[in-house]
Order: sequence, then structure tokens, then C-alpha cells
Amino acid sequence: MRQLIKKLLPNLLLVKLKCFISHFHQKTQPFFALSPFLTRLYFAFFNSAYQREQFSTLQGMLTYNKRIKSTREQSNPLLRRNIHRIEKGLIMRPLREVFALEYIEETQKAYELAYQSSTHQSEELAWAKSVLTKYYETVSLERSSLLTRLANEFSQLNQVDSSNVQYSNKTPYKHQELASNPLTFEQFSRFIDMRRSTRWFKQTPVCRNKLKQAITLASQAPSACNRQPYEFYVVDQQPLLSQVSKLAIGGAGFASNIPCLIAIIGDYSCYEHERDRHVIYIDASLAAMQFMQALPTLGLASCPMNWPELNVIDTKIARLLKLPNYKKTIMLIAVGEPELDGGIPYSQKKSAEQLVHFVDTV
Ligand SMILES: Cc1cc2nc3c(=O)[nH]c(=O)nc-3n(C[C@H](O)[C@H](O)[C@H](O)COP(=O)(O)O)c2cc1C
Repeated sequence: MRQLIKKLLPNLLLVKLKCFISHFHQKTQPFFALSPFLTRLYFAFFNSAYQREQFSTLQGMLTYNKRIKSTREQSNPLLRRNIHRIEKGLIMRPLREVFALEYIEETQKAYELAYQSSTHQSEELAWAKSVLTKYYETVSLERSSLLTRLANEFSQLNQVDSSNVQYSNKTPYKHQELASNPLTFEQFSRFIDMRRSTRWFKQTPVCRNKLKQAITLASQAPSACNRQPYEFYVVDQQPLLSQVSKLAIGGAGFASNIPCLIAIIGDYSCYEHERDRHVIYIDASLAAMQFMQALPTLGLASCPMNWPELNVIDTKIARLLKLPNYKKTIMLIAVGEPELDGGIPYSQKKSAEQLVHFVDTV
């Protein structure tokens, strides 16, 4: 539509129209900002900036409902969330005799579906089996007829053919069993300083295996209810690489030098409710940071690239990467072997004094 208007209208008229629209927004925004209801009207009728996010969120919620009933998935977001809720229940103090009654049945149904599926990821299934086994060993089954029935069904199900679910202990463990800290504060500080946004790279292909190693570390980042609603799309082949690089607005001047781009993609289909729509950004950013930290240990460098909330570029990248409507680009990361004499901006950081607010009681 925009393109058509641009073609049809003479330039002068186009400039005047743009001025009029901008003037309209400036004049009316104070009125629409008076209340949340008026703001909603403004974004419903005069500003479509949130349209794509809302569309993707809704598409995600619909896809979620299909995914949790499908036997053709690798991962089930409901199963992941509920198994995590149960493992948290298993470490509660004091340990409750009965818990998870409100969602244990749906969890077990999700486990059954995953169990019957030939595509479900085996580690996720093994984790679910392990936690459910511990759950039924821990809760007082006699306190609830539902629990007694489900425990029996669970044990029968696992007797059918467990060959696809390797039993390994993936239940809660004690803090003292964690690996001991190998770094001093000074060593970690030096490690942190190894990552700086790097924009000049050698024109050598980036080893895909190294990327996988870094993604494995990224996957260890915390994520709300352990759902990990993100994926790393690796773009390292021409002509796709140049096509995607051109979309990165902040890549002006160095985009053509990037040997590999990672598009971090958020998946709205991990959520049942729209209240969780921002979790894709939070979880993906935490993983992206861990990914970028891992790269220098593999001889690679990176530069995160801004992905502004613009329908036009979102639509273009979705077409290039063949993204379904419920997936959303969160950011791009340029990756490559650093060119050693390439410049790095100093980028002065804020001090802890500027950033910290100790909230004391008065
Ligand atoms: C979300 C995000 C978007 C960024 N976008 C761009 C970008 O589009 N172009 C660019 O050259 N650098 C970009 N950067 C890099 C920042 O400029 C850089 O992180 C900042 O100056 C701090 O420098 P450092 O990363 O070397 O510590 C981005 C960083 C972040 C976290």
C-alpha cells in the first residue's frame, strides 16, 4: 500500500502528506496519552507500530495450542514448563506431601504424547520421565485418588516400551554438587574484557562446529520456566548473507565485510498467554550474551546489531528466512574471525556508582 502511494503521488505531495501526518501525531498524542483507553484507540486507529507484534503474539498462542497436542514436535512448551514447576516443588522447604495437583494430569498427558512421538527430543523426554518418577516416589499418593490413578498409569506407560526414553537421573541435586568455581574475580574480569563489539573480520568462513559449541553454551543461560523460546539462524551463504546484512540498519559501513550473521529468532508459540510476550526478548538476550561471551574462546568475535521494531524489515527478513508468523527476529549478531588491526570503539561504560541504587529501608 505504502509503495503504491509512493509511486502514484508526486514527490512534493508526498513530502506534504508526510508533514501533515507527523503534525497530526504531534498534536493529537497529548490527548491520546491522557488514559490507557485513549492510548489503545490511538494504536488501534492511528498507529500500526504494534500490529506485527500483536499478530505474532496471537499466532503464537494459536500455534501453542496445536503444539501441545501434537505428536510431531521435538519439544513441548507445556511439558517443559510443568516439569520445571514440579522440579521446583521437589526442592521446596518444607517438602509438601502433595503438590502440583492442579496441573499434574495435563503434564502427564503431555508426557504421554511426547512418549508416543518419534520426533520428540530424547533428552527432554528423559528429563520429564526422571522428574515424574521422582515426583510419584515423593508425594503421598494415598492422599489423592487422582495421584494414585496417575501414578499407576505412569508406571504402566513406562513398562510398554521404554527403549526410546533412556533413564538417566535428571532430578534436582544439591548446590555442593555443582562444579567448583575455576575463576577468580580478576580472571573473570579479563575474560569479560575479551569480548568487545568487533566490526572488521577476516574474509574466512566461520566454522559451523564452533558456532554449535558457542550455541551449546548459550543454551545454558537462564530462561523463564526453562522454555528457551529462541533459535539461532545461521546465515553464512551468499546471496542470502548480503540480503540479510542489508536489512541491518546499524550495519552501515561494515555490513559487506561480515562473513556470517546469526539471526536470533524468538518463538511466540512457546506461550499460552499474551502476558508472556516479552519473555522471548529477555530469554533470547540472555542466551545471546552467553553466545557472544563464548566466541572469543573459539577464536571468534562478534557485534550485536540492532533490530528496530519496523514492520517493513521484519516482513523482509521473515520472507528471507522463511519464518512462520509466530516467530520474530530479535537481533542479528555479526560473527567472524577478527581482523587484528581492525578498530574497536572505546565505548566508555557507566560506573557501578551510576548504575547502582541500594534500596534501604528508612
Ligand atoms: C541490542 C544491541 C544493538 C546493537 N546494534 C548495533 C548496530 O546496529 N551497529 C553497531 O555497529 N553496533 C551495535 N551494537 C554494539 C554497541 O554499539 C556496543 O555494544 C556498545 O557500544 C558497547 O561496546 P562493546 O560491545 O564493545 O562493549 C549493538 C549492541 C546491542 C546490545
